Amino acid sequence: MDDRNGWGRERPAPTGLPRNPPTSFVEQANVTNERIHEEFDEPASWERAADLLAWDEPYDTVLEDEEAPFYRWFTGGTLNASFNCLDRHIEAGRKTHTAIRWEGKRGERETYTYQDLFVEVNELAAALRDLGVGEDDVVTIYLPMIPELPIAMLACARIGAPHSVVFAGLSAEALATRMDAAESEYLLTCDGYYRRGDAFNQKSKVDNACIALDHDVQTIVVDRLGDDLPHVLGDGERDYHDLREEFSGETVDPVARDAEDMLFLMYTSGTTGEPKGVVHSTGGYLAHVAWTSHAVLDVKPEDTYWCAADIGWITGHSYIVYGPLALGTTTVMYEGTPDYPDRARLWEIVDRNAVDVFYTAPTAIRAFMKWGAEYPAKHDLSSLRLLGSVGEPISPRPWDWYHERIGGGECPIVDTWWQTETGAITVSTLPGIDEMKPGSAGPPLPGIDARVVDDSGTEVAPGEAGYLVLARPWPGMARTLYDGDDRFLEEYWTQFSDPETDRWWYFSGDAARIDEDGYITVLGRIDDVINVSGRRLSTMEIESAIAGVDGVAEAAVVGRSSDANGTDVYAYVSTEGHSENGDAIREAIVESVESTIGPIARPAEVIFTPELPKTRSGKIMRRLLAAVANDEELGDTSALRNPEIVGEIQAEIGDEGEANERN
Ligand code: WT7
Repeated sequence: MDDRNGWGRERPAPTGLPRNPPTSFVEQANVTNERIHEEFDEPASWERAADLLAWDEPYDTVLEDEEAPFYRWFTGGTLNASFNCLDRHIEAGRKTHTAIRWEGKRGERETYTYQDLFVEVNELAAALRDLGVGEDDVVTIYLPMIPELPIAMLACARIGAPHSVVFAGLSAEALATRMDAAESEYLLTCDGYYRRGDAFNQKSKVDNACIALDHDVQTIVVDRLGDDLPHVLGDGERDYHDLREEFSGETVDPVARDAEDMLFLMYTSGTTGEPKGVVHSTGGYLAHVAWTSHAVLDVKPEDTYWCAADIGWITGHSYIVYGPLALGTTTVMYEGTPDYPDRARLWEIVDRNAVDVFYTAPTAIRAFMKWGAEYPAKHDLSSLRLLGSVGEPISPRPWDWYHERIGGGECPIVDTWWQTETGAITVSTLPGIDEMKPGSAGPPLPGIDARVVDDSGTEVAPGEAGYLVLARPWPGMARTLYDGDDRFLEEYWTQFSDPETDRWWYFSGDAARIDEDGYITVLGRIDDVINVSGRRLSTMEIESAIAGVDGVAEAAVVGRSSDANGTDVYAYVSTEGHSENGDAIREAIVESVESTIGPIARPAEVIFTPELPKTRSGKIMRRLLAAVANDEELGDTSALRNPEIVGEIQAEIGDEGEANERN
């Protein structure tokens, strides 16, 4: 396989000393059966996940595998996700229990009980129906972290319309590409939102996206900013609050969806420039997120649970909205950033809300570490019972810091490995059972068959690097890509699968190591995807944004390890006629990346070079560029047509480094 990022290179991946979960935790854990790993030995074992849901029609078969890898879970069953997240808790007498505790950027606070959420979801569902949204029509949601975002998701789920949430920070062009690919004719958005205290215009991005689309769009606009940013509604645009008033008090019967019907699609970066529309099911997805919220995150209905992610990505879908609400708990939703108005903001929220379970990403933990322990120390964090980590590997040092400074040495940490495509957690310790090894995510969850294999699919020896594959299906798995089944097969089921022998092994795109106890340490992506602050970006997509800039001849993008962000974007660029106008081009490059993808993809460095290093067949050797960026051994360069260029690039980076140190 083409290992563009060069994970074949040796790389130390130490793990810290193993630790057992504290007895106080084990005594109250949701899952304590030590035999669960062995007992979970057939597809039917997943019934315990499905049992956490309310089904309209019971399913006949747990797993149908005739059309592998197009697996079907809980077939014959019907259910509705919004019913599972709302109605059934109300029917169980938990109307006044808090469903969402929202903490706004400007210190605003809002509380939604399950009844409040039910009322608003129903009103919006009625309005969407009235606008013409039918079952299976894709509704795009382009909202920041305000309560209307989960409300819109649940309203779509109620009427059987799959939602496609686009992260609010993505550009107009990214929005248009996603709406176009999904042929989405309905959009829920807002006028704008606050960024570090300033009013930021979201609606103008929407206007630009709609101009770029070939089809008409009906838009609902939430007025978030009021007088801080007046806006005018055009043709086909309705005000969210007006619609709610119009449909005030209306209810909509939840549509019974087949377990295999699409609940949502979520675009994510793939190995080519085109984002992939990952399709998730209703039954299998919901069962898997509810089960892992229960078994891994140890969520209880009476908990206050906080996943500090953005709902615009899969983590928020699964573990801010669907998992916790399916279990009937209180989920905290935070709109702001960790350092505004000050660096104790998150700990103040934990303290004030007596948060029981806190789930975040290593990039955030590294930032907390850098800021210093005095910020968490200002607050009482003793309500915390369990901590979670997701999005990238967490090394032992930040693990220890998180454990001591946030968890007071008394909370187990679950390091959860999963992906947009897996839908829910697939590798993690079970906090009430398994020993923790800082730096290693843990064993595959019960029922998950994760393996680390070499190119030929043979399992590697303990300690050796290999490819992480999932050799058995699981309920939360993506069913296909909205772009088509062929691309789904191509992206995940060609590398280690063999139709001849009916072997279907899902390829994750990650490299990993496994130890004697079956604990998996994830090393990172081996494809053209890089992970910047826990966000997944396609190097190809960034390259094509750069290639569009006047004066740029060619571009190659790689990741460079960074303490702060996990990975930074490094762009190597050659210019036409070796243009002298470096600063202007650099500015244009940054501007183009921000406008085509979004500020999250902004290059940390743009390095100009007369040529990019290429093989004799003309392929850019990105692995080499990654090695240069990371100051590592270059390995074999004999395949290069222009080896001399490597020295020039190294010199260039050296100069930049010195210049930065001087500044
Ligand atoms: C990629 C998936 C899963 C939700 C957030 C990201 C990396 C994720 C871990 C972890 C090491 C991790 C992998 C994976 N990743 N969790 N605990 N340890 N790496 O979802 O955007 O689909 O990205 O994130 O590289 O392939 P995503």
